[in-house]
Amino acid sequence: MTKTRAVVRGVGHYLPARVVPNSDFEKTLDTSDEWIRARTGIERRHFAAEDENTSDLALRAAEAALADAGLTAADIDGIVVATSTPDLTFPSTATKVQAALNMTGGFAYDLQAVCAGFVYALANAHAMILSGIAQRVLVIGAETFSRILDMEDRATCVLFGDGAGAVVVEADAQPGGADDRGILSVDLNSDGRYRNILYVDGGVSTTGTAGYLRMEGREVFRHAVEKLAHTAETALERAGLSGDDVDWIVPHQANLRIIKSTAARMGVPMERVVVTVQDHGNTSAASIPLALSVAKAEGKIKPGDLIVTEAIGGGLAWGAVVLRW
Ligand code: UT7
Repeated sequence: MTKTRAVVRGVGHYLPARVVPNSDFEKTLDTSDEWIRARTGIERRHFAAEDENTSDLALRAAEAALADAGLTAADIDGIVVATSTPDLTFPSTATKVQAALNMTGGFAYDLQAVCAGFVYALANAHAMILSGIAQRVLVIGAETFSRILDMEDRATCVLFGDGAGAVVVEADAQPGGADDRGILSVDLNSDGRYRNILYVDGGVSTTGTAGYLRMEGREVFRHAVEKLAHTAETALERAGLSGDDVDWIVPHQANLRIIKSTAARMGVPMERVVVTVQDHGNTSAASIPLALSVAKAEGKIKPGDLIVTEAIGGGLAWGAVVLRW
C-alpha cells in the first residue's frame, strides 16, 4: 500500500544586496573580526536595505522556489511564513506575499517559533499534506533580524543577518518505507521555562515597541549542544534510521562550534554537514531553507539524499525533520 509523503519539489532563496563584513563592527564596537570568526565561524552577513521588508525577501525566495519546482502560484494551496520579524503586527507577512504572487485562493499565515521556525513550519506543512488539508504548500523562512538588533550590544549584534529561503512541498504517493522520498519524521519540542535566556525586550501587549534581541549566549549555547543532537537522533529513530544513514545534516546556522559538536555527537563527519554560517550569520527562521537552497545550487544535495534538519531558538523551541530529497 502506498503512503502519502510531503516531498520537496523546489527550493530557492534570496539575500539582500548589502554584505556586512565583521570588520564593519570594529569601527563602532570593542570587537574584532578574529573574535567573531573564532567564537562563531561568522565572516559576513547580509543586511536588508531600509526600504526592504521581510515580505520582500520572502517574495523573492518564494519566486525562486516556485521556478525551481516548475510551478506557479496558481498551483499552490497555501503559504506558511516562518518569521519573528514580520512587516507589521498584522496582517501576516504571508498574506502580503500571497497578494504579491497574485494568489487570490488558498490560505496564508505566519508561524513564529524563532530560530526553530522553519522546522516548525515544515512540520506544519507535512501535517496538512498528510491530513489532506493541502496538496502543495509554500513554506518560507524570512527574517530582517537587523531591525531588532541593539547595535551597541557586541554580544548579539555581530551574530545575526537578514535573508529568506523557501521550499515547495507537495503530496506524493510513495511505497511506504524508509527509502521513501519526502518527510519521514518530525520531532518538535519547547520549554518555556527558558524563555528569558533569548527574547526580545518589546512587544505589542507589553511595551508597545518592537524591542531589541537579548540573549544569554553561553546559556543558549549549553542548551543547543545538549538538545540538538538529541532531537535529530529522536527524529531519525522515528524514521527507523540512524546517523550512519544521513547524507547531509542541514543545521540551523547560529554558531560553527554548535554545528560541529552536534555533528560529532551524531557521529556524522563535517564533510556531510552543510555550513553557510560564515556567509549568512544567524538568519533565524531563514537559515535552514537558505542552507538547503545554497547546498542544492552547489550540487551537494541530490535526489535520494537523506537529510536531517535541526534547529533551536527562543522559547526555547527546538526540533528536527528527517526527509529524503
Ligand atoms: O539562533 C538561536 C540560538 N542562538 C545560539 O545558538 C547562540 C548561542 N551562543 C553562542 O553562539 C555563543 O555563546 C556566543 C557566540 C554568543 C558567545 O560565545 P562564547 O564563547 O559563549 O562567549 P561568552 O559569552 O562566554 O563571552 C566570552 C567573552 C566575554 O568577555 P569576558 O566576560 O570573558 O571578559 C564577552 O564579554 O567574550 C566577550 N564578548 C566579545 N568580545 C569581543 C562577547 N561578545 C564579544 C564580541 N567581541 N562581539
